[in-house]
Amino acid sequence: MNSEIIETDVIVIGAGAAGMMCARVASMRGRRVTIIDHSKKIGEKIRISGGGRCNFTNLYSTHENFLSQNPHFCKSALSRFTPQDFLALVESHNIKWHEKCVHPNAKGQLFCDEKSWQIIDMLRSECEQNGTIFKLETSIQSIEKQEDSFLITTESDTYRTQSLVVACGGLSIPKIGATGFGYDIAKQFGLNIIPTRAALVPLTFDEELLSKTKELSGISVDAKVHAGKGSFAEGLLFTHKGLSGPSILQVSSYWHDNTAVTVDMLPSEQIEDVLKKAKNDSPKKQIQNIIAQYLPQRLADMITDTHNVTGKNMADLSDKTITALAQNINAWQIIPNGTEGYRTAEVTIGGVDTKELSSQTMEARKVSGLYFIGEVVDVTGHLGGHNFQWAWASGHAAGQAV
Ligand code: FDA
Repeated sequence: MNSEIIETDVIVIGAGAAGMMCARVASMRGRRVTIIDHSKKIGEKIRISGGGRCNFTNLYSTHENFLSQNPHFCKSALSRFTPQDFLALVESHNIKWHEKCVHPNAKGQLFCDEKSWQIIDMLRSECEQNGTIFKLETSIQSIEKQEDSFLITTESDTYRTQSLVVACGGLSIPKIGATGFGYDIAKQFGLNIIPTRAALVPLTFDEELLSKTKELSGISVDAKVHAGKGSFAEGLLFTHKGLSGPSILQVSSYWHDNTAVTVDMLPSEQIEDVLKKAKNDSPKKQIQNIIAQYLPQRLADMITDTHNVTGKNMADLSDKTITALAQNINAWQIIPNGTEGYRTAEVTIGGVDTKELSSQTMEARKVSGLYFIGEVVDVTGHLGGHNFQWAWASGHAAGQAV
């Protein structure tokens, strides 16, 4: 243990997206910055993001793409560091990128042409060329507030810093280093935490529901999915545990335990009208084959099996049965028994209450010099590059203030 106290201006805890952006901006302003991370490698979530190509921003990111107890909180930071600002940085490092449009409702998602490590390298070099020091594989043992500074003790050193920035991220994917340390620090200083839960996460079914859907694993459809105040029309994927795919991940952020999710598996058609017409026009056709003109055959079979009508001719179906089948397709109501949890969730919803922070600087209102940025804050983006945009924007806001 080094007994000398190392004097510095800014300590950032967490060498992830938000922490590195903050360090970059602060060190460009001439501040002496040290980033401390307990992991061996920096930017691990950036590395695994976007299927290895990092969906680093979304051209259409606005405050409407975020969930928070205070939906207006993120506006100021987002307006002062925009997707175009991040794109300009990416281009200044000659990183090739493209807009991926997997669905007409998922526009503006920008990815690296090559690999996400390019974004990590870019941030690291931006930080290092301005003098930021990285201390990796370093755990913090204590944080003590002194009059105008913080005393931070690690297993090897003690630092005195004017500003302390907490950029520890959320709880998702613990196996690559996620911890609740940021929330612990907030609690140590008496800041309120909005309860956390896994979000952008697949939904799971109980055994009874799973016995019907398990064999559909791997099938995807274009669906409109609704839960609470969230409604998304994108792809849906049946899995061996329940449901996934972009529309499900999006809606998981709005879903609460023991509530229903409504799935329209065929948003382009009012299937009741289609089936009634088929009853008239093709009375000898079997119901599962009519439905299979619109949905994958195995899914059509599952639906007709559920209603005990597989193999029946259209002519033999009552209007009541047709209505029930149509409801199963256009408004399938399910109650998931949970989510896959933090093991696979892309983000953590909730976190440090935005009421505790300045929306201009991310500084805690009641603890001068203490800042919270990125996912640890109660600001959670939709799928599609918004979470990184919040990390960049909040990191930038704090970087200008520390
Ligand atoms: P982040 O998690 O990036 O960094 C936190 C850092 O703090 C880590 O380096 C960690 O090691 C460190 N830390 C934690 N506890 C510590 C402790 N006790 N002591 C010291 N250090 C500690 N978003 C998006 O916009 N586009 C995308 O393509 C994707 N894709 C994606 C895929 C997957 C699989 C996941 C899990 C997530 C995404 N995301 C995403 C979400 C995005 O990765 C996430 O919102 C940001 O990385 C959050 O940035 P932060 O800097 O806040 O935390």
